[in-house]
Amino acid sequence: MLRTHTCGELRLTDDNTTATLCGWVQTIRDKGGVLWIDLRDRYGITQLLLEDGQTAPELFTTARSLGREFVVKATGTVIERKSKNPNIPTGDIELKVTSLEVLNPAKLPPFLIEDETDGGDDLRMKYRYLDLRRNPVRRSLELRHRMAQQTRVYMDGQNFIEVETPVLIKSTPEGARDFVVPSRMNPGEFYALPQSPQTFKQLLMVSGFDRYYQIVKCFRDEDLRADRQPEFTQIDCEMSFVEQEDILNMFEGLVRHLFKAVKGIDMATVPRMTYADAMKFYGSDKPDTRFGMEFVELKGTFDTVDMTSGKGFGVFDSAELVVGINVPGCAHYTRKQLDELTDWIKRPQIGAKGLIYVRYNEDGTLKSSVDKFYSEADLKGWAAHFGAKPGDLMLILSGDAAKARKQLSELRLEMGSRLGLRDPNVFSTLWVLDFPLLEYGEEEQRWFAMHHPFTSPKPEDIPLLDTDLGAVRANAYDLVINGTEVGGGSIRIFNRDLQARMFSILGFSDEEAKAQFGFLMDAFEFGAPPHGGIAFGFDRLCSLFGGADSIRDFIAFPKNNSGRDVMIDSPSPISQAQLNELKIATVAK
Ligand code: AMO
Repeated sequence: MLRTHTCGELRLTDDNTTATLCGWVQTIRDKGGVLWIDLRDRYGITQLLLEDGQTAPELFTTARSLGREFVVKATGTVIERKSKNPNIPTGDIELKVTSLEVLNPAKLPPFLIEDETDGGDDLRMKYRYLDLRRNPVRRSLELRHRMAQQTRVYMDGQNFIEVETPVLIKSTPEGARDFVVPSRMNPGEFYALPQSPQTFKQLLMVSGFDRYYQIVKCFRDEDLRADRQPEFTQIDCEMSFVEQEDILNMFEGLVRHLFKAVKGIDMATVPRMTYADAMKFYGSDKPDTRFGMEFVELKGTFDTVDMTSGKGFGVFDSAELVVGINVPGCAHYTRKQLDELTDWIKRPQIGAKGLIYVRYNEDGTLKSSVDKFYSEADLKGWAAHFGAKPGDLMLILSGDAAKARKQLSELRLEMGSRLGLRDPNVFSTLWVLDFPLLEYGEEEQRWFAMHHPFTSPKPEDIPLLDTDLGAVRANAYDLVINGTEVGGGSIRIFNRDLQARMFSILGFSDEEAKAQFGFLMDAFEFGAPPHGGIAFGFDRLCSLFGGADSIRDFIAFPKNNSGRDVMIDSPSPISQAQLNELKIATVAK
């Protein structure tokens, strides 16, 4: 070892010991007669001291030649500091230097290697190895490491075995596009990178593995957002001889274990909500339940109420749905604030046509943007329906039901943020259950599996497969934390005929189904046990635990929003020789 201690280790109890440290120069303070260097490594910062009359002059010369991020080795004696720094664990001591060696000089870094950096996103990603020296990013990856360790502790304790499944596979329809890899040995043919190990984990159940898990890379060629990366990691799990309830309990246990072991939090029982209720009360299948503001319908699709029609307000009269939220304590919102909110919701990303408000003033009077059409008595009726109190503000949207719900869901989240109700240190968990099995794609004019084609319909809904496809519910579930879908899974089909039927509903011909999934359907005929599972988005889980919105800093080397790794400059063209070898003649630009 080049060192005796790390930069985070020495304390007052080490007074008078000789220590050798290695690390990067964080800062140098040169007061002429005294010179201090803050030396940093993964474990912390230790202050080095050079003092006139006590330290050899050539060491001063070396110290004055140092720059930020130089790699140095320093030996010295641990002494008590005159002015202590209570903010760092090593703040009581300093190292009185007796030897100082430059292990490697460094160019000036393109941004400050500090908690608050001046580096923009692009620069940080280009020099990610420098960004990773910063405490917040390093801490995020340390958290990820602990989460992975504790996941293994729990899963192993529950008798799950970790099995690796292949990365060069065949396209599985999981809803996103595949990344494909050309095969040199099979010209014109391609592997696909797995969107998830779904079919393999089901085959492992047929093999009798009973309980499988894997912390595994998955690849999806989809548009990127803060919580989406083209390659991401799942905690992928599958169990045999189980029903939905068993899966929910087992994996609630995993999340409870992680909260306790990693954050010291005792997690309460996870509440459950049906998909239908989530849509009705939150307009979303992943509601943020850290706060209320549930939807109230004034002209419903779920309820049969109609408190708006026939008063001459055409917008509401022609709307399929009139739905709002009651924002507590916001009746004081000024006209300007309400106009700004209206502009916000009219932005193309959200696309509402307008926003109706009703102020329930502190003095009990009601004032709305539709006073022309609705009397104070009407508005009183609305307020009672909303459960509004004096001082509250009702915000109402209308139109096509699905659109209005989606827009109001965005507005609800925005109001939650504005009112400070979305504290990242508060965790609200939720199981969303009873998802529809299928959803209709208007554009494609066909049915799609809402989760994936291997998900089992609820047995009691199987007859509906003949009569009302949209009404069939699945044995599928999502785990939602603070409005983020952190996991999803289902009980699977394990019968060949039902699986074949499912493919046919999804528009596969018998030949196509056989060509793509014959291996799975064949396996079902060799004694497939009833089985089900779930996969957690590991990056999302880590970012939630870390209190961050983006999963990027929980991934060591992430891609940017265009799917590029700007550090290694990938994707990149390949040589004509490589293309020839792969028998790929031309590449369209
Ligand atoms: P699903 O497609 O719901 O299910 O994925 C499981 C979880 O993975 C996370 N996730 C992502 N995280 C980051 N970037 C992405 N691009 C991304 N896409 C998904 C989400 C999601 O909840 N095979 C099934 C699981 C099963 O049925 O057992 C599956 O992959 O947190």
